[in-house]
Amino acid sequence: MFSQFRSDVQTVFENDPAARSRFEVVFTYSGLHAIWAHRIAHRLYRRGWFTLARIISQASRFTTGIEIHPGATIGQRLFIDHGMGVVIGETCEIGDDVVIYQGVTLGGTGKEKGKRHPTIGNNVVIGSGSKVLGSFRVGDNSNIGSNAVVLREVPDNCTVVGNPGRVVRRNGERVGDRLDHTNLPDPIIEMFRAMGQEIEGLKKELADMRELQQLSHKGE
Ligand SMILES: CC(C)(COP(=O)(O)OP(=O)(O)OC[C@H]1O[C@@H](n2cnc3c(N)ncnc32)[C@H](O)[C@@H]1OP(=O)(O)O)[C@@H](O)C(=O)NCCC(=O)NCCS
Repeated sequence: MFSQFRSDVQTVFENDPAARSRFEVVFTYSGLHAIWAHRIAHRLYRRGWFTLARIISQASRFTTGIEIHPGATIGQRLFIDHGMGVVIGETCEIGDDVVIYQGVTLGGTGKEKGKRHPTIGNNVVIGSGSKVLGSFRVGDNSNIGSNAVVLREVPDNCTVVGNPGRVVRRNGERVGDRLDHTNLPDPIIEMFRAMGQEIEGLKKELADMRELQQLSHKGE
């Protein structure tokens, strides 16, 4: 248990260049406090002490701003940076060496029953504000960009960004078209352009019909 405690503190130093002393880390890192509270709550949960486990989890949420359901399974060396607003669901499984930033939700879509929260592989970084929703797996060594909304399986070694989340990098290689940030499509202009084309088509049809009508009048 003491070695795990030491490993938790060491994990903070490895992930946060702002960490200064062990004393500061032990007493001021709410991510650590939430993980320690979760270990106690999870043990109680596995022994069937569900309500007590929930009370500990909620007390931890009150003091840290991080809500980890006591049923969630968490691996070694998880680092929750800043932490406020993090929510981790009951059937979520998190591998080793994962980094989670503030505002992350590892939740369900509301459509699934049983296992309804994601499984996060090893060495995954989940950026601030991102939501990973559903019972799929996020592969090892993958990065979820901040504010991404991930609704599908993520293979190993990928970077996912955006809403809905899409893979933009796999095994270090860029995937799909490069995002052209300065020339993003404007849906309203596209709509007007399509309407303009349709009006031109209708005008032509009308002119043809008039021409036909005039010809038939002349023929009478
Ligand atoms: C996604 C992230 C991990 C970088 O991963 P990466 O594999 O190195 O990816 P890249 O930086 O090469 O970016 C790949 C593409 O995605 C885009 N991108 C990166 N992060 C993005 C994000 N959060 N949202 C939308 N697009 C993003 C990049 O602009 C790039 O686009 P391009 O191909 O058109 O140039 C990083 O950008 C990120 O979001 N980290 C989270 C950090 C965080 O939450 N910090 C909080 C500290 S308090």
